[in-house]
Amino acid sequence: MSCLVEIQNLQYAYPQGRKALVDVSLHLNHGERVGLIGPNGAGKTTFLLVLAGLMNDFQGEVSVAGCDLSTAAGRRSVHRKLGVVFQNTDDQIVNANVYEDVAFGPLNLGLPEIEVRQRVNQALASVGLNEDYWQRIPFHLSSGEKRRVAIAGVVAMQPQIILMDEPTSDLDPRGRRELVQILSRLPITRIVSSHNLEFVLETCDRVLVLDEGRLRADGPVRRILADESLMLHHGLEVPGSISAEERRHAALAGPIPEPAPNHPHSHPHSSMKLTSL
Ligand SMILES: Nc1ncnc2c1ncn2[C@@H]1O[C@H](COP(=O)(O)OP(=O)(O)OP(=O)(O)O)[C@@H](O)[C@H]1O
Ligand SMILES: [Mg+2]
Repeated sequence: MSCLVEIQNLQYAYPQGRKALVDVSLHLNHGERVGLIGPNGAGKTTFLLVLAGLMNDFQGEVSVAGCDLSTAAGRRSVHRKLGVVFQNTDDQIVNANVYEDVAFGPLNLGLPEIEVRQRVNQALASVGLNEDYWQRIPFHLSSGEKRRVAIAGVVAMQPQIILMDEPTSDLDPRGRRELVQILSRLPITRIVSSHNLEFVLETCDRVLVLDEGRLRADGPVRRILADESLMLHHGLEVPGSISAEERRHAALAGPIPEPAPNHPHSHPHSSMKLTSL
């Protein structure tokens, strides 16, 4: 099966000339659950915006679900195949009540009403919002509830891939645990950026480390998050739930051969990729 996401030598510079993404190349397959980590300003949000088809002036090759994002047609059509949950969920609320908000996307697809209803019911159930919530005003909900509505809105579109930017940033520990459960029930390929590395550990299998716009590491989540020297070097910390033994193992395993940044066909599961520190 072809890759869901193919990126080769992606570069992005903001108009003022600030380089936000430098030579990023990677592949993603269907079903992968990918964490995107890195210090503030690393380029995580920019990366997600490019994948979402919201940036038109990047360089390199980016294809998502068969859409070539270097073309305007590709960026338009990717919106039917990909869902984004933005960091600020208020940006996503468009309707007066929860039910209509979740129905907005499917209705725009021109689906028959019965299918819209089915999709909305299923999406709301998948995020644990029962009928008590349906007529409520989204702006009056708590951060955690708003995030559920935003996720339901995306799920109702039945996308091939979901992008989430800092989904835990405004959640309390219970909200975070609930989000872990919601994500564990969602069988959709996803890329989730987060500073909460315990959350990444619980919800992702693969992790990408970005720093200064470059992809610094790409591999199995536990192995990368256990690598103390890599983590410290990029302004991160090994999560507390990684045991001392796992850290020792990671240290003993030593550096992994680094793929060329522009190597387009290295398979994500075949090896772990650490670029030079
Ligand atoms: N609209 C913009 N105009 C100019 N520069 C920008 C803009 N947005 C982001 N940048 C710069 O691009 C770089 C990458 O920013 P980005 O928001 O992608 O980082 P991030 O990894 O998401 O950071 P954070 O963890 O703080 O959310 C930063 O240096 C940032 O200052
Ligand atoms: Mg960001």
